[in-house]
Amino acid sequence: MNYSERLQNVTVLGAAGKMGSGILLLTAMEMADLSLKPENKGKEYVLYALDISQKALAGLMKYIQGQVLKAAEKKAVALRKVYADRKDLIENCEIIDQYVKDVMNIIRPVTTLESAYESLIVFEAASENPDLKVKIFSQIEKNNQNKPWFFTNTSSIPIGYLDKEAGLGGRVLGVHFYNPPAVQRLVEVIKASATLPELSEFVSQFIKNLRKVEVPANDFAGFIGNGHFMRDALHGMAEVGKLSKEMPFVDAVYIVNKISQDLLIRPMGIFQLIDYVGIDVCQYIMKVMAPHVKDEKIHSPLLDQFMELGVKGGQHSDGSQKDGFLKYEKGRPVGIYDPDKKAYVAIADIAAKCDALIGPMPEGFLPWKSAVGHPAKDDFFKKYFMALKVMDSLGAKLARDYAIRSKAIGLKLVSDQVAFSEKDVNTVLLTGFFHAYGPINDYLN
Ligand SMILES: NC(=O)c1ccc[n+]([C@@H]2O[C@H](COP(=O)([O-])OP(=O)(O)OC[C@H]3O[C@@H](n4cnc5c(N)ncnc54)[C@H](O)[C@@H]3O)[C@@H](O)[C@H]2O)c1
Repeated sequence: MNYSERLQNVTVLGAAGKMGSGILLLTAMEMADLSLKPENKGKEYVLYALDISQKALAGLMKYIQGQVLKAAEKKAVALRKVYADRKDLIENCEIIDQYVKDVMNIIRPVTTLESAYESLIVFEAASENPDLKVKIFSQIEKNNQNKPWFFTNTSSIPIGYLDKEAGLGGRVLGVHFYNPPAVQRLVEVIKASATLPELSEFVSQFIKNLRKVEVPANDFAGFIGNGHFMRDALHGMAEVGKLSKEMPFVDAVYIVNKISQDLLIRPMGIFQLIDYVGIDVCQYIMKVMAPHVKDEKIHSPLLDQFMELGVKGGQHSDGSQKDGFLKYEKGRPVGIYDPDKKAYVAIADIAAKCDALIGPMPEGFLPWKSAVGHPAKDDFFKKYFMALKVMDSLGAKLARDYAIRSKAIGLKLVSDQVAFSEKDVNTVLLTGFFHAYGPINDYLN
Protein backbone atom coordinates (compact mmCIF):
# COMPACT_ATOMS: atom_id res chain seq x y z
CA MET A 1 0.00 0.00 0.00
CA ASN A 2 1.54 3.35 -0.97
CA TYR A 3 1.37 6.69 0.86
CA SER A 4 -1.73 7.89 -0.90
CA GLU A 5 -3.62 4.59 -0.50
CA ARG A 6 -2.80 4.51 3.21
CA LEU A 7 -4.45 7.91 3.60
CA GLN A 8 -7.75 6.82 2.04
CA ASN A 9 -9.38 5.95 5.33
CA VAL A 10 -8.27 7.73 8.46
CA THR A 11 -9.69 8.41 11.92
CA VAL A 12 -8.66 11.32 14.11
CA LEU A 13 -9.56 10.36 17.65
CA GLY A 14 -10.22 13.19 20.12
CA ALA A 15 -10.87 15.33 17.04
CA ALA A 16 -12.65 18.10 18.93
CA GLY A 17 -9.80 18.67 21.38
CA LYS A 18 -7.03 21.27 21.20
CA MET A 19 -4.61 18.97 19.42
CA GLY A 20 -7.12 16.74 17.61
CA SER A 21 -8.77 19.69 15.85
CA GLY A 22 -5.43 20.87 14.45
CA ILE A 23 -4.39 17.37 13.39
CA LEU A 24 -7.80 16.93 11.74
CA LEU A 25 -7.35 20.17 9.80
CA LEU A 26 -3.88 19.25 8.55
CA THR A 27 -4.87 15.68 7.69
CA ALA A 28 -8.06 16.77 5.91
CA MET A 29 -6.14 19.14 3.66
CA GLU A 30 -3.43 16.58 2.92
CA MET A 31 -6.10 14.00 2.05
CA ALA A 32 -8.02 16.49 -0.10
CA ASP A 33 -4.80 17.45 -1.93
CA LEU A 34 -4.17 13.77 -2.67
CA SER A 35 -7.76 13.15 -3.76
CA LEU A 36 -7.49 16.01 -6.24
CA LYS A 37 -4.44 14.57 -8.01
CA PRO A 38 -5.33 13.24 -11.48
CA GLU A 39 -4.12 9.71 -10.63
CA ASN A 40 -6.48 9.58 -7.61
CA LYS A 41 -9.61 10.87 -9.33
CA GLY A 42 -12.61 8.72 -8.42
CA LYS A 43 -10.98 7.21 -5.34
CA GLU A 44 -12.81 7.73 -2.09
CA TYR A 45 -11.02 9.50 0.78
CA VAL A 46 -12.71 9.32 4.20
CA LEU A 47 -11.63 11.07 7.37
CA TYR A 48 -13.57 10.29 10.55
CA ALA A 49 -13.53 13.11 13.11
CA LEU A 50 -14.17 11.04 16.19
CA ASP A 51 -14.91 12.55 19.58
CA ILE A 52 -17.16 11.61 22.46
CA SER A 53 -18.49 15.16 22.64
CA GLN A 54 -21.27 15.65 20.06
CA LYS A 55 -21.58 19.33 20.98
CA ALA A 56 -17.88 19.94 20.48
CA LEU A 57 -18.04 18.24 17.06
CA ALA A 58 -20.63 20.74 15.81
CA GLY A 59 -18.34 23.64 16.74
CA LEU A 60 -15.38 21.75 15.28
CA MET A 61 -16.83 21.57 11.78
CA LYS A 62 -17.38 25.34 11.74
CA TYR A 63 -13.83 25.88 12.97
CA ILE A 64 -12.37 23.56 10.31
CA GLN A 65 -14.39 25.23 7.56
CA GLY A 66 -13.10 28.66 8.60
CA GLN A 67 -9.51 27.44 8.74
CA VAL A 68 -9.68 25.67 5.37
CA LEU A 69 -11.10 28.84 3.84
CA LYS A 70 -8.14 30.84 5.18
CA ALA A 71 -5.67 28.24 3.92
CA ALA A 72 -7.37 28.12 0.51
CA GLU A 73 -7.18 31.89 0.16
CA LYS A 74 -3.44 31.67 0.74
CA LYS A 75 -2.92 28.98 -1.87
CA ALA A 76 -5.38 30.27 -4.47
CA VAL A 77 -2.72 30.31 -7.20
CA ALA A 78 -1.78 26.66 -6.63
CA LEU A 79 -5.46 25.69 -6.45
CA ARG A 80 -6.09 27.23 -9.87
CA LYS A 81 -3.69 24.60 -11.29
CA VAL A 82 -5.36 21.81 -9.30
CA TYR A 83 -8.75 22.72 -10.76
CA ALA A 84 -7.40 23.53 -14.25
CA ASP A 85 -9.80 21.04 -15.87
CA ARG A 86 -12.83 22.57 -14.17
CA LYS A 87 -13.93 25.09 -16.79
CA ASP A 88 -16.95 25.98 -14.64
CA LEU A 89 -14.67 27.50 -11.96
CA ILE A 90 -13.61 30.90 -13.20
CA GLU A 91 -13.23 33.36 -10.35
CA ASN A 92 -10.76 32.82 -7.50
CA CYS A 93 -13.66 32.74 -5.06
CA GLU A 94 -15.27 29.85 -6.98
CA ILE A 95 -12.07 27.86 -6.85
CA ILE A 96 -11.64 28.57 -3.15
CA ASP A 97 -15.25 27.58 -2.40
CA GLN A 98 -14.81 24.34 -4.33
CA TYR A 99 -11.66 23.47 -2.38
CA VAL A 100 -13.40 24.15 0.94
CA LYS A 101 -16.26 21.89 -0.20
CA ASP A 102 -13.85 19.16 -1.30
CA VAL A 103 -12.04 19.20 2.05
CA MET A 104 -15.25 19.28 4.09
CA ASN A 105 -16.73 16.41 2.03
CA ILE A 106 -13.96 14.14 3.23
CA ILE A 107 -14.67 14.70 6.94
CA ARG A 108 -17.32 12.67 8.76
CA PRO A 109 -17.97 13.76 12.36
CA VAL A 110 -18.75 10.69 14.51
CA THR A 111 -19.10 9.87 18.20
CA THR A 112 -18.65 6.09 18.24
CA LEU A 113 -15.47 4.09 17.95
CA GLU A 114 -16.91 1.76 15.26
CA SER A 115 -15.86 4.07 12.42
CA ALA A 116 -12.23 3.52 13.39
CA TYR A 117 -12.73 -0.20 12.78
CA GLU A 118 -12.37 0.37 9.01
CA SER A 119 -9.57 2.93 9.09
CA LEU A 120 -6.03 2.30 7.90
CA ILE A 121 -4.62 5.03 10.13
CA VAL A 122 -5.72 6.27 13.54
CA PHE A 123 -4.33 9.61 14.69
CA GLU A 124 -4.97 9.58 18.41
CA ALA A 125 -5.22 12.82 20.39
CA ALA A 126 -7.58 11.83 23.21
CA SER A 127 -6.94 12.96 26.77
CA GLU A 128 -3.50 12.13 28.26
CA ASN A 129 -4.60 9.07 30.17
CA PRO A 130 -2.61 5.84 29.67
CA ASP A 131 -5.54 3.58 30.62
CA LEU A 132 -7.89 5.38 28.24
CA LYS A 133 -5.41 5.19 25.35
CA VAL A 134 -4.70 1.49 25.96
CA LYS A 135 -8.43 0.73 26.12
CA ILE A 136 -9.21 2.59 22.89
CA PHE A 137 -6.26 1.06 21.01
CA SER A 138 -7.06 -2.48 22.17
CA GLN A 139 -10.66 -2.14 21.14
CA ILE A 140 -9.82 -0.81 17.67
CA GLU A 141 -7.10 -3.43 17.21
CA LYS A 142 -9.50 -6.21 18.16
CA ASN A 143 -12.19 -5.08 15.72
CA ASN A 144 -10.23 -3.66 12.80
CA GLN A 145 -9.22 -6.29 10.22
CA ASN A 146 -6.89 -3.87 8.34
CA LYS A 147 -4.01 -4.02 10.81
CA PRO A 148 -4.27 -0.23 11.23
CA TRP A 149 -1.38 2.09 12.03
CA PHE A 150 -1.69 4.06 15.27
CA PHE A 151 -0.12 7.51 15.53
CA THR A 152 -0.40 8.84 19.04
CA ASN A 153 0.04 12.44 20.08
CA THR A 154 0.84 11.49 23.69
CA SER A 155 3.08 14.02 25.43
CA SER A 156 4.63 11.65 27.89
CA ILE A 157 3.49 8.01 27.76
CA PRO A 158 6.18 5.68 26.40
CA ILE A 159 5.13 4.33 23.01
CA GLY A 160 6.48 0.87 23.84
CA TYR A 161 4.14 0.76 26.83
CA LEU A 162 1.12 1.51 24.62
CA ASP A 163 2.30 -1.04 22.06
CA LYS A 164 2.70 -3.78 24.65
CA GLU A 165 -0.40 -3.06 26.72
CA ALA A 166 -2.71 -2.75 23.71
CA GLY A 167 -1.04 -5.60 21.77
CA LEU A 168 -0.40 -3.55 18.62
CA GLY A 169 2.50 -5.64 17.28
CA GLY A 170 4.70 -2.61 16.53
CA ARG A 171 2.03 -0.72 14.59
CA VAL A 172 2.28 2.37 16.77
CA LEU A 173 4.42 5.50 16.53
CA GLY A 174 4.56 8.68 18.61
CA VAL A 175 3.78 11.64 16.39
CA HIS A 176 3.98 14.50 18.85
CA PHE A 177 2.61 17.68 17.34
CA TYR A 178 3.03 20.92 19.27
CA ASN A 179 0.17 23.20 20.22
CA PRO A 180 -1.42 24.50 18.02
CA PRO A 181 -0.60 21.87 15.37
CA ALA A 182 -1.69 24.04 12.46
CA VAL A 183 0.84 26.73 13.39
CA GLN A 184 3.68 24.99 15.22
CA ARG A 185 6.29 23.57 12.88
CA LEU A 186 7.86 21.00 15.16
CA VAL A 187 6.80 17.35 15.24
CA GLU A 188 8.68 14.95 17.53
CA VAL A 189 8.58 11.40 16.19
CA ILE A 190 9.06 8.56 18.66
CA LYS A 191 9.65 4.96 17.69
CA ALA A 192 9.21 2.18 20.21
CA SER A 193 11.76 -0.63 19.94
CA ALA A 194 9.19 -2.78 18.11
CA THR A 195 7.74 -0.04 15.86
CA LEU A 196 7.68 -1.17 12.24
CA PRO A 197 9.91 0.97 9.95
CA GLU A 198 7.05 1.52 7.46
CA LEU A 199 5.27 3.72 9.99
CA SER A 200 8.25 6.07 10.36
CA GLU A 201 8.76 6.22 6.60
CA PHE A 202 5.12 7.15 6.09
CA VAL A 203 5.18 9.79 8.82
CA SER A 204 8.37 11.40 7.45
CA GLN A 205 6.60 11.85 4.12
CA PHE A 206 3.48 13.17 5.87
CA ILE A 207 5.47 15.71 7.93
CA LYS A 208 7.41 16.79 4.86
CA ASN A 209 4.20 17.33 2.92
CA LEU A 210 2.85 19.46 5.80
CA ARG A 211 6.11 21.49 5.57
CA LYS A 212 6.92 20.81 9.19
CA VAL A 213 10.19 19.95 10.95
CA GLU A 214 10.67 16.36 12.15
CA VAL A 215 12.86 15.64 15.15
CA PRO A 216 13.28 12.00 16.16
CA ALA A 217 13.32 11.15 19.85
CA ASN A 218 13.86 7.93 21.70
CA ASP A 219 11.00 6.29 23.52
CA PHE A 220 11.59 7.79 26.92
CA ALA A 221 8.77 9.33 28.98
CA GLY A 222 8.42 13.05 28.18
CA PHE A 223 10.58 12.70 25.05
CA ILE A 224 12.71 15.78 24.29
CA GLY A 225 10.24 18.67 24.56
CA ASN A 226 8.55 17.81 27.82
CA GLY A 227 11.73 16.14 29.07
CA HIS A 228 13.34 19.58 28.97
CA PHE A 229 10.28 21.67 29.86
CA MET A 230 9.26 19.69 32.95
CA ARG A 231 12.78 19.77 34.42
CA ASP A 232 13.16 23.44 33.51
CA ALA A 233 9.86 24.16 35.29
CA LEU A 234 10.96 22.13 38.32
CA HIS A 235 14.13 24.21 38.46
CA GLY A 236 12.09 27.46 38.38
CA MET A 237 9.78 26.23 41.11
CA ALA A 238 12.72 25.08 43.25
CA GLU A 239 14.26 28.56 42.91
CA VAL A 240 10.98 30.06 44.11
CA GLY A 241 11.09 27.65 47.07
CA LYS A 242 14.57 28.92 48.01
CA LEU A 243 13.81 32.60 47.47
CA SER A 244 10.55 32.52 49.39
CA LYS A 245 12.47 31.70 52.57
CA GLU A 246 13.65 35.34 52.45
CA MET A 247 10.77 37.11 50.71
CA PRO A 248 7.03 36.76 50.06
CA PHE A 249 6.05 33.92 47.70
CA VAL A 250 4.57 36.31 45.12
CA ASP A 251 7.81 38.32 44.98
CA ALA A 252 9.76 35.11 44.39
CA VAL A 253 7.42 34.06 41.56
CA TYR A 254 7.71 37.52 40.01
CA ILE A 255 11.52 37.37 40.14
CA VAL A 256 11.91 33.85 38.73
CA ASN A 257 9.31 34.51 36.04
CA LYS A 258 11.07 37.71 35.06
CA ILE A 259 14.61 36.36 34.97
CA SER A 260 13.47 33.29 32.99
CA GLN A 261 11.88 35.61 30.42
CA ASP A 262 13.90 38.83 30.27
CA LEU A 263 17.36 37.91 31.47
CA LEU A 264 17.31 34.62 29.58
CA ILE A 265 15.67 36.33 26.58
CA ARG A 266 12.92 33.76 26.19
CA PRO A 267 9.44 34.38 24.74
CA MET A 268 7.75 33.98 28.12
CA GLY A 269 8.64 33.43 31.75
CA ILE A 270 8.51 29.93 33.18
CA PHE A 271 5.36 30.52 35.24
CA GLN A 272 3.56 32.01 32.26
CA LEU A 273 4.57 28.96 30.23
CA ILE A 274 3.27 26.60 32.94
CA ASP A 275 -0.03 28.54 32.92
CA TYR A 276 -0.14 28.41 29.13
CA VAL A 277 0.25 24.64 29.06
CA GLY A 278 -1.97 24.27 32.14
CA ILE A 279 -0.98 23.52 35.74
CA ASP A 280 -3.17 20.42 35.54
CA VAL A 281 -1.49 19.27 32.31
CA CYS A 282 2.01 19.83 33.78
CA GLN A 283 1.08 17.94 36.94
CA TYR A 284 -0.30 15.11 34.83
CA ILE A 285 2.73 14.93 32.54
CA MET A 286 5.02 14.75 35.58
CA LYS A 287 2.84 12.02 37.06
CA VAL A 288 3.10 9.98 33.86
CA MET A 289 6.85 10.60 33.53
CA ALA A 290 7.79 9.99 37.18
CA PRO A 291 7.65 6.17 37.30
CA HIS A 292 9.81 5.95 34.16
CA VAL A 293 12.54 8.29 35.49
CA LYS A 294 14.64 6.49 38.05
CA ASP A 295 17.45 8.93 38.89
CA GLU A 296 15.46 12.16 39.41
CA LYS A 297 12.32 13.22 41.23
CA ILE A 298 9.82 14.44 38.65
CA HIS A 299 7.23 15.86 41.00
CA SER A 300 6.24 19.32 42.22
CA PRO A 301 4.43 19.84 45.54
CA LEU A 302 3.78 23.43 44.39
CA LEU A 303 1.74 22.21 41.41
CA ASP A 304 -0.15 19.87 43.76
CA GLN A 305 -0.89 22.80 46.09
CA PHE A 306 -2.23 24.96 43.25
CA MET A 307 -4.37 22.10 41.94
CA GLU A 308 -5.84 21.61 45.42
CA LEU A 309 -6.66 25.33 45.47
CA GLY A 310 -8.41 24.93 42.10
CA VAL A 311 -5.95 27.24 40.29
CA LYS A 312 -5.22 25.53 36.99
CA GLY A 313 -4.29 27.91 34.17
CA GLY A 314 -4.81 26.57 30.64
CA GLN A 315 -6.97 28.21 28.00
CA HIS A 316 -10.60 29.21 27.69
CA SER A 317 -12.44 27.76 24.68
CA ASP A 318 -11.86 31.03 22.78
CA GLY A 319 -8.10 30.54 23.22
CA SER A 320 -7.65 33.26 25.84
CA GLN A 321 -5.45 32.55 28.84
CA LYS A 322 -7.03 31.37 32.11
CA ASP A 323 -5.55 32.60 35.37
CA GLY A 324 -2.99 30.31 36.99
CA PHE A 325 0.18 31.29 38.85
CA LEU A 326 -0.40 34.61 37.13
CA LYS A 327 -3.56 36.58 36.51
CA TYR A 328 -4.06 37.83 32.94
CA GLU A 329 -5.75 40.84 31.42
CA LYS A 330 -5.79 40.98 27.62
CA GLY A 331 -3.20 38.20 27.66
CA ARG A 332 -0.74 40.14 29.83
CA PRO A 333 0.18 39.13 33.39
CA VAL A 334 -1.20 41.63 35.92
CA GLY A 335 -1.22 39.63 39.17
CA ILE A 336 0.42 36.73 41.01
CA TYR A 337 -1.49 34.21 43.09
CA ASP A 338 -0.79 34.16 46.80
CA PRO A 339 -1.81 30.71 48.10
CA ASP A 340 -1.94 31.98 51.73
CA LYS A 341 -4.32 34.83 50.93
CA LYS A 342 -6.06 32.77 48.22
CA ALA A 343 -6.06 35.89 46.06
CA TYR A 344 -3.99 37.59 43.38
CA VAL A 345 -1.56 40.34 44.34
CA ALA A 346 -1.25 43.10 41.72
CA ILE A 347 2.08 43.01 39.88
CA ALA A 348 2.02 46.82 39.80
CA ASP A 349 2.28 46.81 43.61
CA ILE A 350 5.41 44.64 43.80
CA ALA A 351 7.23 45.19 40.50
CA ALA A 352 9.40 48.14 41.55
CA LYS A 353 10.86 46.52 44.68
CA CYS A 354 11.39 43.17 42.92
CA ASP A 355 13.03 44.84 39.91
CA ALA A 356 15.39 46.58 42.32
CA LEU A 357 16.31 43.20 43.81
CA ILE A 358 16.86 41.67 40.37
CA GLY A 359 19.22 44.51 39.47
CA PRO A 360 20.05 46.05 36.09
CA MET A 361 19.73 44.27 32.76
CA PRO A 362 23.03 43.15 31.23
CA GLU A 363 24.64 45.51 28.75
CA GLY A 364 23.30 45.12 25.24
CA PHE A 365 20.04 43.53 26.41
CA LEU A 366 17.37 43.12 23.74
CA PRO A 367 13.89 41.75 24.32
CA TRP A 368 13.17 38.32 22.81
CA LYS A 369 11.21 39.76 19.88
CA SER A 370 14.24 41.74 18.69
CA ALA A 371 16.84 39.11 19.60
CA VAL A 372 15.10 36.21 17.86
CA GLY A 373 15.44 37.85 14.45
CA HIS A 374 18.84 39.44 15.09
CA PRO A 375 20.92 39.31 11.89
CA ALA A 376 24.04 38.26 13.86
CA LYS A 377 22.26 36.25 16.53
CA ASP A 378 25.13 34.05 17.64
CA ASP A 379 27.49 37.03 18.12
CA PHE A 380 24.76 38.94 19.92
CA PHE A 381 24.19 36.10 22.42
CA LYS A 382 27.92 35.57 22.93
CA LYS A 383 28.32 39.22 23.94
CA TYR A 384 25.09 39.27 25.94
CA PHE A 385 26.02 36.25 28.05
CA MET A 386 29.55 37.56 28.48
CA ALA A 387 28.03 40.68 30.07
CA LEU A 388 25.68 38.54 32.19
CA LYS A 389 28.56 36.36 33.32
CA VAL A 390 30.48 39.14 35.12
CA MET A 391 27.49 40.76 36.86
CA ASP A 392 26.97 40.06 40.47
CA SER A 393 23.28 41.01 40.91
CA LEU A 394 20.66 38.54 42.20
CA GLY A 395 19.01 38.52 38.76
CA ALA A 396 22.26 37.70 36.94
CA LYS A 397 23.08 34.91 39.37
CA LEU A 398 19.62 33.36 39.00
CA ALA A 399 19.76 33.70 35.21
CA ARG A 400 23.21 32.05 35.03
CA ASP A 401 22.06 29.16 37.23
CA TYR A 402 18.96 28.82 35.05
CA ALA A 403 20.95 28.74 31.81
CA ILE A 404 23.45 26.26 33.28
CA ARG A 405 20.62 24.00 34.46
CA SER A 406 18.85 24.25 31.11
CA LYS A 407 22.06 23.19 29.33
CA ALA A 408 22.59 20.32 31.79
CA ILE A 409 19.04 19.10 31.16
CA GLY A 410 19.71 19.20 27.42
CA LEU A 411 23.02 17.33 27.74
CA LYS A 412 21.43 14.70 29.96
CA LEU A 413 18.68 14.15 27.36
CA VAL A 414 21.51 13.32 24.95
CA SER A 415 23.55 11.17 27.37
CA ASP A 416 20.38 9.31 28.43
CA GLN A 417 19.80 8.77 24.68
CA VAL A 418 16.38 10.41 24.76
CA ALA A 419 17.67 12.73 22.03
CA PHE A 420 19.94 11.49 19.25
CA SER A 421 22.05 14.66 19.22
CA GLU A 422 22.64 18.04 20.85
CA LYS A 423 21.38 19.61 17.64
CA ASP A 424 18.03 17.81 18.02
CA VAL A 425 17.63 19.15 21.57
CA ASN A 426 18.33 22.67 20.34
CA THR A 427 15.96 22.28 17.38
CA VAL A 428 13.14 21.25 19.73
CA LEU A 429 13.67 24.30 21.94
CA LEU A 430 14.13 26.66 18.99
CA THR A 431 11.22 25.36 16.94
CA GLY A 432 8.75 24.00 19.50
CA PHE A 433 9.32 26.54 22.28
CA PHE A 434 10.42 29.51 20.13
CA HIS A 435 13.63 30.01 22.08
CA ALA A 436 16.03 32.40 20.39
CA TYR A 437 19.04 30.12 21.09
CA GLY A 438 19.47 26.45 21.92
CA PRO A 439 20.09 25.47 25.56
CA ILE A 440 23.23 23.54 24.60
CA ASN A 441 25.64 26.37 23.83
CA ASP A 442 28.99 27.75 24.99
CA TYR A 443 27.79 31.23 25.91
CA LEU A 444 28.65 30.90 29.60
CA ASN A 445 31.91 28.98 29.21
N1 LIG B 1 -2.42 20.61 24.71
C1 LIG B 1 -1.12 20.56 24.42
O1 LIG B 1 -0.38 21.54 24.53
C2 LIG B 1 -0.54 19.27 23.89
C3 LIG B 1 0.65 19.32 23.15
C4 LIG B 1 1.16 18.14 22.61
C5 LIG B 1 0.52 16.94 22.85
N2 LIG B 1 -0.63 16.92 23.59
C6 LIG B 1 -1.28 15.61 23.79
O2 LIG B 1 -2.39 15.52 22.91
C7 LIG B 1 -3.42 14.74 23.49
C8 LIG B 1 -4.69 15.55 23.55
O3 LIG B 1 -4.48 16.71 24.33
P1 LIG B 1 -5.41 18.00 24.22
O4 LIG B 1 -4.70 19.08 24.96
O5 LIG B 1 -5.80 18.22 22.81
O6 LIG B 1 -6.66 17.51 25.08
P2 LIG B 1 -8.17 18.01 25.00
O7 LIG B 1 -8.76 17.73 26.32
O8 LIG B 1 -8.26 19.40 24.44
O9 LIG B 1 -8.81 17.03 23.92
C9 LIG B 1 -9.07 15.69 24.15
C10 LIG B 1 -10.29 15.33 23.32
O10 LIG B 1 -10.45 13.92 23.43
C11 LIG B 1 -11.83 13.66 23.53
N3 LIG B 1 -11.98 12.34 24.12
C12 LIG B 1 -11.76 11.95 25.40
N4 LIG B 1 -12.02 10.64 25.53
C13 LIG B 1 -12.38 10.18 24.32
C14 LIG B 1 -12.79 8.91 23.82
N5 LIG B 1 -12.88 7.85 24.61
N6 LIG B 1 -13.12 8.81 22.52
C15 LIG B 1 -13.07 9.89 21.71
N7 LIG B 1 -12.71 11.13 22.12
C16 LIG B 1 -12.36 11.26 23.41
C17 LIG B 1 -12.37 14.80 24.38
O11 LIG B 1 -13.79 14.95 24.23
C18 LIG B 1 -11.58 15.98 23.84
O12 LIG B 1 -12.26 16.61 22.77
C19 LIG B 1 -2.90 14.31 24.87
O13 LIG B 1 -2.32 13.04 24.76
C20 LIG B 1 -1.85 15.37 25.17
O14 LIG B 1 -0.86 14.91 26.05
C21 LIG B 1 -1.18 18.05 24.10
